[in-house]
Amino acid sequence: MSMSLLELNNVTAGYGQTPVLFNVDMTINKGDMVCLLGRNGVGKTTLLRSIIGLNKISQGSLVFQDKNITKFPTYKRSRYGIAYIPQGREIIPYLSVLDNLKLGFSASGKSSKRIPSEIFEFFPMLKEHLPRQGGLLSGGQQQQLAIARGLMCNPKIMLLDEPTEGIQPSIVQEIEDTLKRINREKGITVIVVEQKIDFARQLAQKFFIMDKGSIVAQGQTSELTDSLVHRYLTV
Ligand SMILES: Nc1ncnc2c1ncn2[C@@H]1O[C@H](COP(=O)(O)OP(=O)(O)O)[C@@H](O)[C@H]1O
Ligand SMILES: [Mg+2]
Repeated sequence: MSMSLLELNNVTAGYGQTPVLFNVDMTINKGDMVCLLGRNGVGKTTLLRSIIGLNKISQGSLVFQDKNITKFPTYKRSRYGIAYIPQGREIIPYLSVLDNLKLGFSASGKSSKRIPSEIFEFFPMLKEHLPRQGGLLSGGQQQQLAIARGLMCNPKIMLLDEPTEGIQPSIVQEIEDTLKRINREKGITVIVVEQKIDFARQLAQKFFIMDKGSIVAQGQTSELTDSLVHRYLTV
């Protein structure tokens, strides 16, 4: 068994005939906590969507746990252990918090219908709000619900797209702490797309920077220098 959990090899992907990602190479090891950085429009969301199968990979390959999954449909990738928490969270507003959580079961293909108690250990707030409509939660609570829903299918890797966007600072801190716990205690590998450099530095050990559809820098977050930040991340 190799150390690497997920590998993108020379991946080109996009929308219809229009490529957005060009020759992306990326290796994510088991247990990594990684942030994916880059200015608006460089392809971060498209990269996550290509990993979960919402954008077609037209060239190159995607390898997960030593298996080539380039052509697998999204539901199969979910069952193999890839969880995707999209930007904007996509909570169903008129469904209860409980029913929103249960949607996580459908991704796993499991028949169990009991919410595992660990979900409430990671997100105690959810327990108090189970009968409420999802749409009535605050933005930060909805983000926590979305992460919890992703956790329901027992993923090996979680892909999060800008989980702190538009969320009040106290909950940003909670989300940071919870993601660290999920990574440490459950050994789940995490890739987070993030705009806030400080958050990324505190959360992740490794970083990738994208520009114009390609990876242009990577390393330990301790090596994320101001010159890289100025060159690729500040507007
Ligand atoms: N649904 C779509 N159809 C066509 N092009 C898209 C679509 N969504 C995004 N794009 C284009 O893909 C590029 C990368 O977008 P995206 O992956 O959303 O970047 P980021 O997440 O880094 O802001 C942009 O040029 C954007 O205009
Ligand atoms: Mg995006």
